[in-house]
Amino acid sequence: MPAKMTLAIQVLRLVVGMLLFPMFLLNLLGLWRERCRKWFPSFMWRATRIYNKYTLRTKRELFSNLQEFSGPSGKLSLLEVGCGTGANFKFYPPGCRVTCVDPNPNFEKFLFKSVAENRHLQFERFVVAAGEDMSQVDEGSVDVVVCTLVLCSVQSQEKFLREVRRVLRPGGAYFFLEHVADERSTWNFFWQQVLDPAWNLLFAGCNITRESWKSLEQAGFSKLRLQHIQGTLPCPLLKPHIYGYAVK
Ligand SMILES: C[S@@+](CC[C@H](N)C(=O)[O-])C[C@H]1O[C@@H](n2cnc3c(N)ncnc32)[C@H](O)[C@@H]1O
Ligand SMILES: *[C@@H]1O[C@H](CO)[C@@H](O)[C@H](O)[C@H]1NC(C)=O
Repeated sequence: MPAKMTLAIQVLRLVVGMLLFPMFLLNLLGLWRERCRKWFPSFMWRATRIYNKYTLRTKRELFSNLQEFSGPSGKLSLLEVGCGTGANFKFYPPGCRVTCVDPNPNFEKFLFKSVAENRHLQFERFVVAAGEDMSQVDEGSVDVVVCTLVLCSVQSQEKFLREVRRVLRPGGAYFFLEHVADERSTWNFFWQQVLDPAWNLLFAGCNITRESWKSLEQAGFSKLRLQHIQGTLPCPLLKPHIYGYAVK
């Protein structure tokens, strides 16, 4: 990237930082992140309804492939990592056994609301843990792992994907739908970079500049089906998406 652009990004970040000074100050004092973790689940509960409307066709298409991976019993054992409020439950096949993992315990209330609304599923348990360390889930124990809008928020995509691969049975699949960085030559990518630090604080560690497809390509899956799309979401920063699945 030309030096002028890099400078422009730094200057604009500073301007945004000044506008949102109280938030950055609270963060420096260590008073922000915890508050955000409390507030985020009720925000996601509302945001999910909107997001699901805009991504309905993509999610339907993506999750129509789930059943292919069910084990010998015919029942699908599914692990949702970074489950949040349980936004994807309605797309899972009847009888599907679901375990959920999320590091934020404040999601529980909303997650259980979704469980109650989706009686076609067999809900097993909610594990409070980060995806990078899912030691409470056995190696090779699930047919399918599902993550939507999670790679943007994890600390290490590499460790995270290694854990995903560990818990999958051989031949099992990891299903994903993620918003990602736009192409580097675009203005949208420029604004993504300007707004990334502020966005990250506002939306509980969500990062809008990640080229997550690269981590997926390097994660050592035996097969990767990955598509890039410009989603229909009204917020340009969140338009570029990737979705698909990877087989262990
Ligand atoms: C934008 S929300 C998406 C929630 C849900 N998957 C959905 O599609 O509505 C991001 C989620 O990732 C979770 N998360 C953050 N860091 C994580 C990590 N290291 N491992 C697993 N989940 C994480 C957050 O707690 C939050 O539930
Ligand atoms: C977002 O992720 C990129 C790439 O991993 C990293 O360089 C950047 O510092 C992250 N942004 C924030 C605000 O943490």
